[in-house]
Amino acid sequence: MAAARRPLMAGNWKMNGLGASIAELSRIIGGFDAALSARIDCLICPPATLIAAFAARAKGSPVAIGAQDCHPGAAVAFTGDLSAEMWKDAGASAIIVGHSERRAGHGESDALVRAKAAAAFRAGLLAIVCVGESKAEREAKRTLEVVGRQLAGSIPDGATPQRLVVAYEPVWAIGSGLTPTAADVSEVHGMVRGELVKRFGAGAGATRVLYGGSVKAENAAALLKAAEVDGALVGGASLKAKEFLSISNVYI
Ligand code: 13P
Repeated sequence: MAAARRPLMAGNWKMNGLGASIAELSRIIGGFDAALSARIDCLICPPATLIAAFAARAKGSPVAIGAQDCHPGAAVAFTGDLSAEMWKDAGASAIIVGHSERRAGHGESDALVRAKAAAAFRAGLLAIVCVGESKAEREAKRTLEVVGRQLAGSIPDGATPQRLVVAYEPVWAIGSGLTPTAADVSEVHGMVRGELVKRFGAGAGATRVLYGGSVKAENAAALLKAAEVDGALVGGASLKAKEFLSISNVYI
């Protein structure tokens, strides 16, 4: 089954990047040569202000552009928010939903994340649904229970397995330099895979499960080659083309 999935390397730029950052995107595009793009998909998720310009620059290249969040509605009175349809219109092909920074910092529940994922599907985009346990939950050996519950609550009815991507991002590994062992990652991904199969049957083989949290060039091989890992959602290390490309080149 795993062989059927094309790995996805996704960069989450979070609240980083100004107009001049298009030069960094160009370097990423330049590094996604024929050998690399034959093997893996690449997605860069810049802040909202850069989506349209990045999508225009990346058009026709192997690099796709994604957003970091959306409102669940399509066209409603909600000052400051942006819909999945707007992202599609601006050139995005994916939306990250339920990132732990939004779950924690903006109090996003599984139900809201599920509605946002449904909005991404409604607009015909990929939904990258993030799940992950806190340090206290891991220490209490509740990782599988917590991630399983988030997964069940965050994937909408009618989700298309081909357009669903799950990102397992342990909260304690994000931006900390700490990472789980490859065996720990495989254990969680294996559980996620099992739940996806229960939900979608054989179709679940199309859903990619990414690892995220302090992925860097030094640890990329161990994490990305772990069983059941179909790519990575990279934060800080995706801001520099050189680092992001050396992580991606693990697949060469
Ligand atoms: P870091 O790679 O900076 O730890 O961030 C991971 C992340 O949150 C990606 O969504």
